[in-house]
Amino acid sequence: MDFIIVEKDVAPFVAVVRLNRPKELNALNLQLMGELRDSLEALDADDTVRAIIITGDRRAFAAGADIKQMSGKTATDMLIADQFSTWDRIKRTKKPIIAAVSGFALGGGCELAMTCDMIIASETAKFGQPEIKIGVMPGAGGTQRLTRAIGKAKAMELVLTGKFIDAKQAEAWGLVNRVVPEELYLEEAIKLASEIAAQSPIAVRLAKEAINHVAESHLNEGLHLERKNFYLLFATEDQTEGMNAFIEKRPPNFTGR
Ligand code: HXC
Repeated sequence: MDFIIVEKDVAPFVAVVRLNRPKELNALNLQLMGELRDSLEALDADDTVRAIIITGDRRAFAAGADIKQMSGKTATDMLIADQFSTWDRIKRTKKPIIAAVSGFALGGGCELAMTCDMIIASETAKFGQPEIKIGVMPGAGGTQRLTRAIGKAKAMELVLTGKFIDAKQAEAWGLVNRVVPEELYLEEAIKLASEIAAQSPIAVRLAKEAINHVAESHLNEGLHLERKNFYLLFATEDQTEGMNAFIEKRPPNFTGR
């Protein structure tokens, strides 16, 4: 694997999965997501693992889907590639997953953190759904999970302006479990994972399933609508302009076409 590092036994029954594209702030390209899916499926089937942590590095958990990989795509390309089937499989992981977040968790990065069961944040963490600034919208659950986590008004503000919130704000709004100093975020996640790993694995699995039933009732309909709208935006001039502007490091000129 090129972009994922898996470390088992960081504590008894605890594994850490590290996103490893540091120069690109762990931008989630298709290869990275495929490797992440394969790692999680392997850990889910591994009896020596009872709790999983997903992390990045200090500067970034992940700065979103890879804009350079997406910029030239059409709506038809997006529909045919069906990248979200990878996310669907990640969502089906039965073991508990904790996101240990430092630095940027933006766009698909914020969505990946929210797909996990709990989030431990470093004081330096920044969360946001900035897709609107590049002429698109969240596509991997951001409109659905953020709204469930922090409520409609605040989710609207974040998704429609693209602004970021810091870790303290994310904690106050209920997006993260807790915030710790930067040097402790992984340690704190390992501590929490160890507490969970000390319980009955089958009871943990069934409890996770039951809690997710509350969190995910009607989620699939919402995800479906979000996905279709996300693909549709790849038929617009604003998507091309927004993504090209990011790559060319200039402000976008949106026309609504
Ligand atoms: C591709 C990215 C990237 C991304 C950063 N990089 N984010 N490449 N896709 N999402 C690259 C930059 O181009 C740059 O490469 C290098 O990483 C370092 O980033 P800088 O911008 O130079 O760093 P900084 O000035 O510190 O700014 C950090 C930042 C900014 C605020 C996080 O990079 C940024 O705004 N990134 C995009 C965030 C975003 O819009 N995310 C949503 C994507 S859409 P070079 O080669 O110049 O060094 C999305 C859809 C989800 O996520 C739905 C499907 C899963």
